[in-house]
Amino acid sequence: MELTDLKHSVETAEASALERLRGADSVDSVRRLENEVLGKQGSVGSLLGRMTEYPAEIRGQVGKLVNEAKTRIKEHFAAKLATIQSAASARDETEAKSIDPTLPAPVQPMGGVHPVTAVQWEIERLFERMGFTVEAGPEMESQYNNFEALNIPPTHPARDMQDTFWLKNGCVLRTHTSPVQHRSMKKFGAPLRVIAPGRCFRYETIDASHENTFHQVEGLLIDRNIGLPHLIALAKTLLTEVMKKEVKLRVRPGFFPFVEPGIEIDMDCQICGGRKCPTCKQSGWVEILPAGMVHPNVLRAGEIDPEEWSGFAFGLGLTRLAMMKFGIKDIRVLNSGDLRALAPPDRLSGTVIS
Ligand code: FA5
Repeated sequence: MELTDLKHSVETAEASALERLRGADSVDSVRRLENEVLGKQGSVGSLLGRMTEYPAEIRGQVGKLVNEAKTRIKEHFAAKLATIQSAASARDETEAKSIDPTLPAPVQPMGGVHPVTAVQWEIERLFERMGFTVEAGPEMESQYNNFEALNIPPTHPARDMQDTFWLKNGCVLRTHTSPVQHRSMKKFGAPLRVIAPGRCFRYETIDASHENTFHQVEGLLIDRNIGLPHLIALAKTLLTEVMKKEVKLRVRPGFFPFVEPGIEIDMDCQICGGRKCPTCKQSGWVEILPAGMVHPNVLRAGEIDPEEWSGFAFGLGLTRLAMMKFGIKDIRVLNSGDLRALAPPDRLSGTVIS
């Protein structure tokens, strides 16, 4: 190949490289182009590799010609990179200046008290005003406290009403908050006014209104001359206060070995307004407050003389009451981690989570 041909190739390659460089607008595109031009396979870079195609006596001039072209091209690339980089840092500076660090931080979504906890606190405050003490028993209970002390001997069929989780140490996960009745009688004696909110567990088929883990509030009042009218009046006060409106109650007989007589106090379903839905099992009523007059055997087990004292007890379904208050159709959302169930209760109120 002639030296003049080479000169022509170098000039063409250089001119095309500079033309393309003018169109490059980012650091990446400049570097890519640099490699395409000056790299070993590049349009200019590869010319040195073809040195052997020239007669030995002109190879020095070939090298000089190519290297000078490479130096010029490199300078153009360096200048272009510097221009792009200084434009970028000027842009960053303008952006930084447009941030006002004195502005308040963006508002983060707030967590909230769990609906069951919110209702529990409300009930605690209400009962404290009426002179009740708030107690909390253990979730792992002895079989004696969960059953025997409540007039349910080992062979009594009533044990089948509340199947539970049996532990290897012989204890159970309590099926109800009623064991706290016995604990409180032993702890305080009579007269006595106590409520005990807490978590209960049952080996249960789960549906819209049944969970294996749910909350109740036990209530126990022991004094002289206490009767069912006191109990029903208290139930009315409790449910009206929590629902913030007059609710309809239905009282019917109910059997629990630890009360005599036993009653079931139902509330009109607040989800369907009594028109019947899956939450109220198509009945229009929700079982919310089983109760009754404390059985003499339970008073005796708690070392209280049934000849002198009488009292009533109730086991409010706290989880179900929270569902009614906040319009939660399905109990399962409450243990599911569904964040909609954790919205602050005032915002949750009125929303129906299905
Ligand atoms: C009892 O647990 C008795 N200890 C209540 C009691 C106390 C009666 C004192 C008399 C005197 P029951 O099994 O019906 O009763 O449960 C009470 C309430 O807990 C029910 O009305 C219901 O609202 C709620 N409940 C019961 N089982 C579940 C469940 N699987 N899921 C959600 N709530 C439940």
